[in-house]
Amino acid sequence: MDNEQLKQEIVRLKKEKNAVILGHYYQRNEIQDLSDYIGDSLALAQMAQQCDNDIIVFCGVHFMAETAKILNPKRKVLLPDMEASCSLAESCPGSDFARFKAEHPDHMVISYINCSAEIKALSDLICTSGNAEKLVRSLPEEQKIIFAPDKNLGGYINSVTGRNMLLWNGVCMVHDAMHAESVLKLKIAHPDASVIAHPECNGALLKVADFVGSTKAMLNYIAKSGQKKFIVATETGILYEMQKNNPDKEFIVVPSGDSCNCADCSYMKLNTLEKLYLCLRDETPEILMSEDLMEKARKPIVRMLDMSKQLGIIK
Ligand code: 13P
Ligand code: SF4
Repeated sequence: MDNEQLKQEIVRLKKEKNAVILGHYYQRNEIQDLSDYIGDSLALAQMAQQCDNDIIVFCGVHFMAETAKILNPKRKVLLPDMEASCSLAESCPGSDFARFKAEHPDHMVISYINCSAEIKALSDLICTSGNAEKLVRSLPEEQKIIFAPDKNLGGYINSVTGRNMLLWNGVCMVHDAMHAESVLKLKIAHPDASVIAHPECNGALLKVADFVGSTKAMLNYIAKSGQKKFIVATETGILYEMQKNNPDKEFIVVPSGDSCNCADCSYMKLNTLEKLYLCLRDETPEILMSEDLMEKARKPIVRMLDMSKQLGIIK
């Protein structure tokens, strides 16, 4: 089948099986086009919770699909490629983290949503890059906190809130490999551009950014800004939505590492049109977990969604 036939079949199967496709901004353009909802991790978690379709096809990475299943366990949740992992989730094995947590019994555990269900089950509260700062600020100042698994996001929250959260030593392999030096070189070439960065970037890069925020926050910032040019420190996939919403503006991506001019997450890009078609046709690979694990992991995610509503971050 060529791409056009694949697209037609995906649309047909989706209707026939009462399925919904949730897509993250970092997905391939053609997958974003086929998604019923595109969003950041927070919006997609909320969308997954509210879905009443029989099947949720999650075009993102494994922890996102797992979160969808935990929040809406009656639905069949499919992920086009089970290998679509995340370096942050991989950096934090459950047994090691349980030991670390046991060493600090007086600390509350906040975990970034980019972690496994096992880590979520060991957490008191989940956050995303879209709500982390406000959630942390809402907690009593004397509250001791372990923040896992992203040391860059945790370090950023520490720097803006003045907290001293204990950080797990994990990074996003895409954002952490973007260098402040690359941004400065781009700034010299494009002095009229604003630098916008995702908080998964390293601290040195975040220091030279004009704006730091989640994928959705970056999109909002661009829409409101009078600026015409942006140096963008996040995964390349988001350029599609940025360009679509702002055809008169220019976006220059900060390379991840030294070997290319791109910033692709190899995990996010594992989902392809063909795999999306096959997964809808065969209803596999499916996300499955024990009831017990889902119940334990659900509490801190629901707490995050409830707190985000109370704080006016989401509706
Ligand atoms: P957000 O969509 O929450 O900004 O997160 C980005 C990310 O890296 C997802 O893997
Ligand atoms: Fe994980 Fe980074 Fe890829 Fe997001 S971009 S899925 S944080 S490895």
